[in-house]
Amino acid sequence: MTRLLPNLLKAKKRGGQEIKHTKFGPLNDELLKIGKGKKYFIRTYGCQMNVHDSEHMAGILEQMNYTQTENIALADIILVNTCAIRNCAEEKVYGLLGKYKALKKINPGLILGLCGCMSQEEIVVERILKRHPYVDIVFGTHNLHRLPQLIQEALFSKEAVVEVWSKEGDIVEALPTVRHEHFRAWINVAYGCDKFCTYCIVPYTRGKERSRQPNDILQEIRDLTDQGYQEITLLGQNVTAYGKDLIDQKVNFTKLISEACLVNIPRIRFTTSHPYDFDEQLLDVFKNRSNLVEHIHLPVQSGSDLILKKMARKYSRSRYLKLVEKIRTVLPDVALTTDIIVGFPGETNDDFLQTMSLMSEVEFDSAFTFIYSARPGTPAAKMNDDIELTEKEYRLQNLNNLQEKISLNKNKQLVNRKVELLVEQLNAKKPGLLSGRTRSNKIVNFQGPPTLLGKLTYARITKAKPWSLDGELLEI
Ligand code: 5AD
Ligand code: SF4
Repeated sequence: MTRLLPNLLKAKKRGGQEIKHTKFGPLNDELLKIGKGKKYFIRTYGCQMNVHDSEHMAGILEQMNYTQTENIALADIILVNTCAIRNCAEEKVYGLLGKYKALKKINPGLILGLCGCMSQEEIVVERILKRHPYVDIVFGTHNLHRLPQLIQEALFSKEAVVEVWSKEGDIVEALPTVRHEHFRAWINVAYGCDKFCTYCIVPYTRGKERSRQPNDILQEIRDLTDQGYQEITLLGQNVTAYGKDLIDQKVNFTKLISEACLVNIPRIRFTTSHPYDFDEQLLDVFKNRSNLVEHIHLPVQSGSDLILKKMARKYSRSRYLKLVEKIRTVLPDVALTTDIIVGFPGETNDDFLQTMSLMSEVEFDSAFTFIYSARPGTPAAKMNDDIELTEKEYRLQNLNNLQEKISLNKNKQLVNRKVELLVEQLNAKKPGLLSGRTRSNKIVNFQGPPTLLGKLTYARITKAKPWSLDGELLEI
């Protein structure tokens, strides 16, 4: 029975070892037979990286001949793909596992698997083995391609099969994929992160920065374009560091994006960029290529130099503001969004007010705001987390109130303007109501025919709200 447990100390180490690029599969006949007549259900928490990993897991399961079910009670295998970024996300998972345990009474052959970022933490795996022994498989972010072999072992094992690689392995190409949507697709460009912001567990759970080969990425974009996709999002924890590890290739993110934009796909996005690595030449690509949409997600985390330093963000408030100014000079209509943490250890009211003033100064289109959550094994977890929860909540509320006003003001500037929309959803409750996303990533609700789903269209904005817009269709 496999028992390979995670170790955060090992995960932290960065070495110069070469990353190999290998290919998934092929699966042998026995593995291909395992899923015949069986159903799978995947529950995903966390960021787009996890969403995309779940698409790969779905692809692998379907290659093993499992079929998807929306009804969890019918599932023969349930995978919970987890997020470790904040404690609250972890607590939800433990609660969910308790519920899923009951399903084993109905279907004793049910395989319950835990994967994703939480599996990379030793305290999580210890807790699972002790308190949730009914979990059958635990695997991590580096070895999801091993899913077929782990299922095969679990089918014959009485105890949990645990295989978590603490160190990242090869980059595995050609992973089968079942995408949730047929018009918008995620593409990984790089895995891992070497920034080690002091609060963040990602460099431990996702390993060192590793870039995919540019040709593999470009081929995937071309294939998706041929399949009729309208929009792709290039994914990485820090896409702006793309290529730094591909020493022989002389490629960076700006070059990759320039080439990607030559593919005839209507929309290209990317996320997430780090202000430290942001290459200003990228702005020229925005100016010259119409399919690179005008939205930049640029996490600032704090407006206080003291806190930025304690977070090890590698830039100051003024450097961030200068970067924003440069971006806005070249791209006046760009939508800027950000991530902000309140209540980082030692954050005084004055530090917090500096975050509020930065928010007012930049006027972000929207912001993801979080209360600091101590993550075991990170440097910040050893700092004195000295702010009362009520104070953290108060700061979060103030920040959200301010952003709401700013977002509403920004959205009001769009009223009467014509916008391009990619239609994403039919409203289940209100027939005839559709929602689409602008190039700047804003949601617009409007009346229209369901045939528009997955297509590009145009609307005129009629009403602004803080988190969405209303519009009327201009062209069918
Ligand atoms: N506590 C709260 N928020 C965090 N983030 C990352 N780590 C933590 C943490 N320990 C936030 C950051 C990051 C976003 C994805 O999650 O703002 O940009
Ligand atoms: Fe975490 Fe910082 Fe890396 Fe983002 S850049 S994933 S916040 S360590």
